[in-house]
Amino acid sequence: MRISVIGCGYLGAVHASAMAELGHEVVGIDVDEVKIAALGEGRTPFFEPGLPEVLTSALASGRLRFSTDIAEAAGAEVHFVAVGTPQKKGSNAADLTYVDAAVEALLPHLNAGDLVVGKSTVPVGTAARLAGLIEDVGTGASLAWNPEFLREGFAVQDTISPDRLVYGVPAGAAGERAVAQLNEIYASAIAADTPLVVTDFATAELVKVAANAFLATKISFINAMSEIAEVSGADVTQLADAIGYDARIGRRFLNAGVGFGGGCLPKDIRAFTARAEELGRGESVAFLKEVDSINLRRRQRVVDLTVTALNRPIFNAKVAVLGLSFKPHSDDVRDSPALDVAVQLRGLGADVLATDPQAIENSRARHPQLSYSTEIEETLRGAGAVVLVTEWPEFRDIDPAWAATLVETPTIIDGRNTLDAAKWRAAGWTYYGLGRP
Ligand code: UDX
Repeated sequence: MRISVIGCGYLGAVHASAMAELGHEVVGIDVDEVKIAALGEGRTPFFEPGLPEVLTSALASGRLRFSTDIAEAAGAEVHFVAVGTPQKKGSNAADLTYVDAAVEALLPHLNAGDLVVGKSTVPVGTAARLAGLIEDVGTGASLAWNPEFLREGFAVQDTISPDRLVYGVPAGAAGERAVAQLNEIYASAIAADTPLVVTDFATAELVKVAANAFLATKISFINAMSEIAEVSGADVTQLADAIGYDARIGRRFLNAGVGFGGGCLPKDIRAFTARAEELGRGESVAFLKEVDSINLRRRQRVVDLTVTALNRPIFNAKVAVLGLSFKPHSDDVRDSPALDVAVQLRGLGADVLATDPQAIENSRARHPQLSYSTEIEETLRGAGAVVLVTEWPEFRDIDPAWAATLVETPTIIDGRNTLDAAKWRAAGWTYYGLGRP
């Protein structure tokens, strides 16, 4: 099928490459010339395992190209809108500027029978409004909403083999045609019996925010238990294991620590709250404000623990920060708890040296005032305390005996509860976990 993908960020670049890999003919379009030039040369503008290989092979097949010219979308039958919906400045709501601009730019290039497919995460009601816009122009094109559930770090795999497909389509013949077009695009996933939910626009839009709200709530739930564990002497990691054995609860997303971040969970729960308030139902998701507060308190807790753990005043104390990205296998520092902790410690006057396998460049662009090192050894040398805030395997694999020879004081704050506490203590470290005695 001939496809255009409007917006070549984390979502669009992966989607365009994966769709071409699946055999479709794809043009990826973005207004960012630097990004488009890089992608066209087979260079990914961000770190995503597996993407360089898929991008290179798709480009070599001749089925994938990139352009900054929206007119190039004209030959395609299906147009995916994969632009960002960041948090609006000074508000909790989502900023729909890019979605609106993408659809408006697309309008003059649509032909009868074309399908515009929204993939961006949007406030419920957006699809109906955009469908009206497409209808008003009288192109004979229609709209579907097909939310994306990919996780950074597993984006290619999640796109090629999703755990479910959701199509929000209009009623009647247009809806049937949209389902047929989407089924053709996702033929391999359909053949693999991937669960498919065909529904209306509002449900499709809500599925995405509800999923992210649930995941955020699950993390904040265990982090709330972590706070209780801290005042009662319990161990939240054992608690998570024990409740996780209940299949109704499940152990995944019950890792207590410095909390969630990234380009999705934080802004999506805030946008959901804002949209529910607009709809007069703020109370229904008021708990998400608590989910957000618990999450942000965990960052503060790591900072406070570090201040307490240092055997000297924080001012000018050398603190090694292990991790900057919001999670391992990503260079994404958007709303990253790790970067936030580093910045807060620096703000208190600590002499912070931070390292990360992938996220230094992005961190430096946002926070040039921080000091960075690409070497774990250099980062640890002379530190009065070590703070682990992203559970990269490189950090988990650090030999505590070796690390103890480098630091000034063997004190570690494990902000992800990822290290073997007994092993670190045996090597002479004072170990602090979150929600653990
Ligand atoms: C998320 C959703 O998982 C995905 O379905 C959606 O499409 C986009 O948003 P992503 O942002 O890539 O994906 O990250 P995810 O793996 O969900 O992790 C989010 C944050 O939660 C990370 O900061 C992670 O460290 C944190 N987390 C996750 C925890 O603190 N504890 C856990 O148990 C799990």
